[in-house]
Amino acid sequence: MTPGAAMPRAPGLFLINIGQLLTLRSPVRGPRRGSSLSELGIIDDAAVLCLGGKIVSVGTMKNALRDPWLKKNRKKVTEIDCGGHVVLPGFIDSHTHPVFANPRLVDFEKRIAGTSYEKIAEGGGGIRASINGVRSATKSALTDKLLRALGDMAAHGTTTVEAKSGYGLSFDSEMKSLEAIRSAAKRWAGTVVPTFLGAHTVPPEYRGRSRKYVELVCKEMIPTVVKRKLAQFADVFCDRGTFSAEESEEIFRAALENGIALRAHMGQLSETRLEPFLRFKPASLDHMDYVNKDDFAALASSDTIATFVPGANYFLGLSRYPEARRFIEAGIAVALATDYNPGSSPTLSMPMAMSLACTHMKMSPAEAIAAATINGAWAVRMADQKGSVEAGKDADLAVFAVGDYREIPYWFGTNRCAGTIANGVLLGNGSL
Ligand code: NIG
Ligand code: FE
Repeated sequence: MTPGAAMPRAPGLFLINIGQLLTLRSPVRGPRRGSSLSELGIIDDAAVLCLGGKIVSVGTMKNALRDPWLKKNRKKVTEIDCGGHVVLPGFIDSHTHPVFANPRLVDFEKRIAGTSYEKIAEGGGGIRASINGVRSATKSALTDKLLRALGDMAAHGTTTVEAKSGYGLSFDSEMKSLEAIRSAAKRWAGTVVPTFLGAHTVPPEYRGRSRKYVELVCKEMIPTVVKRKLAQFADVFCDRGTFSAEESEEIFRAALENGIALRAHMGQLSETRLEPFLRFKPASLDHMDYVNKDDFAALASSDTIATFVPGANYFLGLSRYPEARRFIEAGIAVALATDYNPGSSPTLSMPMAMSLACTHMKMSPAEAIAAATINGAWAVRMADQKGSVEAGKDADLAVFAVGDYREIPYWFGTNRCAGTIANGVLLGNGSL
């Protein structure tokens, strides 16, 4: 959809001639762990009927054609011939930072020339380099940029996007960022989950006074975000050079007291012990490059998802990636996301994140798909509505012009998504 276009209403859609339908359904409720991460619930030669933005029936073509309701009403629904291709739940991109004004090209060149992400940040680059752009942008300019990104995401098969603020880092600019997310969400057919990330880094005017900034986040920003219902989650970047474990716990406590759910950036640059944070029951802890081995058991027995964002490892030119196999073998529920942002991961392609997870983290294509769909839905606490193709769930589907699901992470650097359906609306991006 082009920015500003009116939202189309969901018509009845009947997807036919699906070569492989990855339903991701499971008889057991809960995020996928261990071997269940590989179970895609595939139906060959399948059909899906969607009405009023919801999936109403899922099965083989043969059974669909025998359905009495469809026999009577087939003319009333729009038929989509999937041409023997693969259909799966729309991706849930459960970690993105899409409210920014400009790319960070100076940082990019500095890193290529050998300066690290942390050193660039210490010198005033990094997250701080994106602040001025957001502070001086109008809400409507931010909304338009965000809508463009959401359109691109949908063109790559994503139907649900967790979107963080975090480049304003003043009371007004953080609220403006969240308002931009809200107004873009109203104009996009997919689903947006807003997250408040006022604790992304300490802004320059609070240099050396991080305690004062944490106070502003806890005492003014969080209560206003909650009062104005601007976000579903509060997030914090807990790491060396940003917020300490103590400051992050303080932010978690304030969020909890104000009744907003939690998620956090953990272990991107250095290790932080996770057990104290798991007590707050965060929906997700993300990055997880550095995790103490003694935290694995606690993470596995919690409902918190460990979300990997390998686009950041790739773009920062790191040879180290999260140890996905150890997480999966320990029984930890893992998800994959793009981390779309101008500094560490300027990609909005979930298939690219999945490809990196396969090649660099040794996740199988099936595991990568479950991590990008149903476990992503758990990571944003929307698994009752999203993440699998089952009657009663939201009609969020992606059609890929491939004959085998393993091709989705296999073809990298190119887009094989032929069409995306979000809340029952076919987005006019692909060849369908
Ligand atoms: O997830 N780690 C913190 N935030 C982003 C990077 C933000 C930036 O560099 O602009 C991330 O990688
Ligand atoms: Fe991030």
